[in-house]
Amino acid sequence: MTGFKTLEWDNGVLRLLDQRQIPFAMVYLDYTDYRDVATAIREMVVRGAPAIGATAAYGLALAAWHSRASTAEALRAELAEAADVLRASRPTAVNLFGAIKQVLARASDPALTDAESIRAAVLAEAHAIAAADVRTNRQIGLNALPLVPDECTIIHHCNTGSLATVDYGTALGIIRTAHEHGKKVFVLVDETRPRLQGARLTSWELKMLGIPHMVIADGASGHYMRTMGVDLCLVGCDRVAANGDTANKIGTYNLAVVAHENGVPFYVVGPTTTIDLATPTGDHIEIEERPAREVTHVGECQVTPDGVQVGNPAFDVTPARYITAIITERGVVYPPFEENLRKIIEQA
Ligand code: MRU
Repeated sequence: MTGFKTLEWDNGVLRLLDQRQIPFAMVYLDYTDYRDVATAIREMVVRGAPAIGATAAYGLALAAWHSRASTAEALRAELAEAADVLRASRPTAVNLFGAIKQVLARASDPALTDAESIRAAVLAEAHAIAAADVRTNRQIGLNALPLVPDECTIIHHCNTGSLATVDYGTALGIIRTAHEHGKKVFVLVDETRPRLQGARLTSWELKMLGIPHMVIADGASGHYMRTMGVDLCLVGCDRVAANGDTANKIGTYNLAVVAHENGVPFYVVGPTTTIDLATPTGDHIEIEERPAREVTHVGECQVTPDGVQVGNPAFDVTPARYITAIITERGVVYPPFEENLRKIIEQA
């Protein structure tokens, strides 16, 4: 049991658990304006590809709910404006764009001829996206069970748990399912500089779930793979290109190369909504650059000299050749990814 809700709709209010404060405080923030929701996504009150997708969907629901538009046409115009604001929050995770597209498609149904029915449809679609996310994550966990040895050590990067989704998690969901099925799992938790999603969030979730783990500096994963007998790496994804190249939290590429060097299977985990066949390769994925302060400071403490030049990409791209398989709710996809990703999407 985790006992928290990453995001929740409550009668015209979107409630988000402020992930910037975890593990020190559990604070929920209430939102009624979609513009503030876009800011919350940008500032990482909520983060993780599936969670920001669902949050953006509820952002549109807020726009519809609180709008004074009295005609279908006026409301659709406001929704288009809100969608632009929400899309501009973070560029890399395709789930954000997919969820917005799905909600707008529902709102544009010609059968909806008045503002009231559009309002209801937009909210229903946001609820559907949120509910599908939880179902999907549980299925991913079950699909991965045969890949997880009964007793094993797993390296995990960033946070892909309940906090990164509506509930249950993707890569962390696999670890959770394996644990629930009695497997003896030990997790090496990459701390995940600079935002420390591993150290702050993943260890918080694993502790709550009673799953044995150890937080390590990102640079220590190679050492442990060479000396400790790591069985597999599990990471999430923000966008999987048509050829299997995968954008995920910065540091994933390094982990994949070291896993390859040490013969450790490297699994990317995510819902099929993270697969973007319209993006041919990883070179076409926009990588978000985040504020320098995330690197120059740890919390409030400055750790670099004043005025130093800083690079802070939030994600990197792992070339498909380093990926053993991509685990989704529709099954485990092996190379050749170009062919097999297309098949799994078209089978819908
Ligand atoms: O910058 P973040 O914390 O939003 O990045 C999160 C990740 O990179 C996750 O691995 C990814 O979104 C998958 S979460 C299920």
